[in-house]
Amino acid sequence: MNNIVLIGYMGSGKSTVGRDLQRKTGMILLDSDQEIERLHNCKISQIFETRGEGAFRQMETDYLKELCQYPDPLILSTGGGMVLKEENVMLMKKIGKVIYLKAEVDTLYRRLSNDTTRPLLQNGNRRQIIAEMVAKREPYYLRAADRILQTDGKTLEEVVNEIVNYQWTES
Ligand code: S3P
Repeated sequence: MNNIVLIGYMGSGKSTVGRDLQRKTGMILLDSDQEIERLHNCKISQIFETRGEGAFRQMETDYLKELCQYPDPLILSTGGGMVLKEENVMLMKKIGKVIYLKAEVDTLYRRLSNDTTRPLLQNGNRRQIIAEMVAKREPYYLRAADRILQTDGKTLEEVVNEIVNYQWTES
């Protein structure tokens, strides 16, 4: 199976789908947020607070560059803003097939309504922030994606099976 890169908005299920995909395929799973926290020994929220979003975005790019050297079959679950830099999109495409886990604003809001870990959601009307950010980011996700996987109303198993059954040679 090809390396898989999961992209999508916060709460779109990248980490959950990544974990299940790992169980099914035995491929290595890496989560860019977790790896950045580990490498910098600092929570994402602290990185945003002390060094700012720009520094975090640079850490994301640096991490992708390192991953391009990674030898084993892998699933990469990315942070929701990974697609915002053109350089990141090129790097992700180099790493593997990019799958956009797409979800409606209502679904995302439901999953994120109690979140305390994501710095970009902590101030203001959360539903509105999500709706505006999704609208702004949608073109970035679409441009980066090799496949768009609509997840609303599907079980985790259905989503993961779709990914496992993708015929990449046809695309
Ligand atoms: C972000 C998404 C987060 C994390 C950071 C910024 C974003 O990752 O990288 O809080 O800009 O959308 P998840 O998508 O895994 O929540």
